[in-house]
Amino acid sequence: MLNLNKLFSTITTDINNTNTSNQLNAIRIKYLGKKGILNSYIRNIKYFSFEEKKKYSMMINHIKKNIISEINKKDKELNLIMLNQRIQKEKIDISLPGRRVHQGSLHPITHTINSVNNFFLKLGFQAINSPEIEDEYHNFDALNIPKNHPARDTHDTFWLDSNRLLRTQTSSMQIRIMKKEKPPIRFIFPGKVYRNDYDVTHTPMFHQIEGLIVDKNINFSHLKWIIYNFLYDFFGKKIVIKFRPSYFPFTVPSAEVDIINDDGKSLEILGCGMVHPQVLKNVNIDSSLYSACAFGIGIERITMLRYGVSDLRSFFENDIRFLKQFKYN
Ligand code: DAH
Repeated sequence: MLNLNKLFSTITTDINNTNTSNQLNAIRIKYLGKKGILNSYIRNIKYFSFEEKKKYSMMINHIKKNIISEINKKDKELNLIMLNQRIQKEKIDISLPGRRVHQGSLHPITHTINSVNNFFLKLGFQAINSPEIEDEYHNFDALNIPKNHPARDTHDTFWLDSNRLLRTQTSSMQIRIMKKEKPPIRFIFPGKVYRNDYDVTHTPMFHQIEGLIVDKNINFSHLKWIIYNFLYDFFGKKIVIKFRPSYFPFTVPSAEVDIINDDGKSLEILGCGMVHPQVLKNVNIDSSLYSACAFGIGIERITMLRYGVSDLRSFFENDIRFLKQFKYN
């Protein structure tokens, strides 16, 4: 009995000294396992008298119960410690400001080109991309602008060699498409054009969208209808539009369209007109049968007006603070 009491106090000390579940488990096996110490005591019972057996086994059972409850108690303690350690380790500081995902958006010029394209696609136009390196014939000669024509001087051309150049206008595509397609023709050509110019309303590279319609009985009223409807769609009904007679060698009659802004200032946004019979002749279209109208819209100009941008150059300076102001749905 003395032995049993001693054993119990040793076991309790052992249990209390454990720091991990593994250690506790080892103790459980050592004392309570099949080949454990308590069982070896039980095996010895057979040598005792009946009375002793009874007393002795009751005591062992009593000790066993106590050990189990000590182990369970310790087990709970250790689990709690482990849980707290985990909570400490995996703690999340909910007061930290979150990381924001900065959403990008289209460049305002790209967005304008997309919306102009969409408008004309709805009217049955086809949009195609076109080469930025052109030759003298498509950019000038075929458009009725021969060498020494004063209109060439206004274009400040970047020449690549004696024949090739960075196109100064998307009008060169009128020639390419009229040579390739048979009327009826209804196309738009968005793209970059280049002129050696630099101030608040000019950059050496800018964008135009050229439009071309070739069919029987096309006249100036078709052109006006399309331009008005496009501008009302793009700006909303509030704008003031002014058609002003003008001159382009490849159209007759020719016009320019100005938009009058809130301060009463006007900004030229496009050129247009009826395609010159000489140009039709250059591309072998019979001008007694077909007529054509065309227009070239300055993309930066209409974007400036739409968003109230005062310096055209800011579109290409890539200042993120400027670009971030443009958000679309
Ligand atoms: N290409 C002209 C320019 O860059 C704009 C233009 C005028 C285009 C009249 C046209 C047009 O299609 O008919 O200044």
